[in-house]
Amino acid sequence: MNAVDQDKLGEFLKQTGGMVAAGFNCAISVLGDRLGLFKTLYDIGPCDSTTLAKQLNLHERWVREWLQHQACVGQVDYDSDAKLFALSAEAHAVLVDADHPAYLMGAYDAAVAVFPAVEKLQHAFRTGLGMSYDEHGPDCACGIERMGAFSKQQRLVPEMLPMIPHMQDRLAVGAAVADVGCGGALSTIAMAQAFPNSQFIGYDTSEVALQRARANIAEAGVTNIRLSNPLQEPLPQQPTFDLVTTFDVVHDTPYPDRLISDIYGALKPESYWLCEDIRGFETFNENLQNHPMAGLLYGFSVMVCMNSGMSTADGAGLGTLGFTRKVAEEMTKAAGFDDFSQLDIDSPMNNYYLLKKA
Ligand SMILES: C[S@@+](CC[C@H](N)C(=O)[O-])C[C@H]1O[C@@H](n2cnc3c(N)ncnc32)[C@H](O)[C@@H]1O
Repeated sequence: MNAVDQDKLGEFLKQTGGMVAAGFNCAISVLGDRLGLFKTLYDIGPCDSTTLAKQLNLHERWVREWLQHQACVGQVDYDSDAKLFALSAEAHAVLVDADHPAYLMGAYDAAVAVFPAVEKLQHAFRTGLGMSYDEHGPDCACGIERMGAFSKQQRLVPEMLPMIPHMQDRLAVGAAVADVGCGGALSTIAMAQAFPNSQFIGYDTSEVALQRARANIAEAGVTNIRLSNPLQEPLPQQPTFDLVTTFDVVHDTPYPDRLISDIYGALKPESYWLCEDIRGFETFNENLQNHPMAGLLYGFSVMVCMNSGMSTADGAGLGTLGFTRKVAEEMTKAAGFDDFSQLDIDSPMNNYYLLKKA
């Protein structure tokens, strides 16, 4: 047995202790979100636990421990002279402001929602067979929906669609669009609201996602969206759509090659597939060395994305970081797409590919 270096042991313990704290923090932050603690702390400014608890009609003892945990992990500031807690503008952007591009609260939701999967995943590691998206329940789908809301609601229509040649004109006149893997349909709704003359179909294999989508569509009051589960109604294999979109779907699906060739078959000639997928390097080593979110993304992968991609016995299991630009280029070419480009869209998380069917 190798001798244990006490200094290294101390460092390692500090690091792993931080990881355990982060695990607890996910649950404790979700509580802060649901109870309005982060938002109220920001709104009222520096305060003590009594003031914050009173404002929210909560029990002071619980609020005090919550604040002390949050201060120790660095999400809440503490002024030890004044004995007051506060939420910084940066923390507000990440933890409270759903309209900010850095908003990350959905990731906490998703992390907490997948903890029960630990039981099932022991079996998956032995057999290879993962879990369907639906097996995580609605909280995971909601978390993922919240994570991607900003880009769908604020960037898709004004920034991304104009990058597709003539697409705005086609959509304005009346086009047929499929949003495949639509999840809660935030992207479908944003496009449908902007282009009322066009018809949209949101496809998703998850009944949980389709339920979310139904509720979101009803709330938005849009009437030009239909929803469909491709397990019951596959994408039409005749030229039907002027535009197909996928937002973080290909790396998740058990049969990405089939999905890509179905999309190719469903597009009209001179039509486009806008494909958002996770930004990563081509090799694990590059991700390890240079990807600022590699730990988060491989974590998501084991618990959600690769898990879903392995949810059939012959699933491809690409993994969260598995649909790289090179893989995307190769797989789309194999399906028949010979016009591949990457759009110049600034995003720390995603790449955007544009495929044209000739
Ligand atoms: C990571 S979620 C993204 C959801 C949504 N596009 C978003 O960005 O919030 C991936 C979604 O793709 C769906 N999905 C996976 N494979 C699919 C397939 N072959 N056809 C349709 N939907 C699929 C999953 O059920 C899930 O809702």
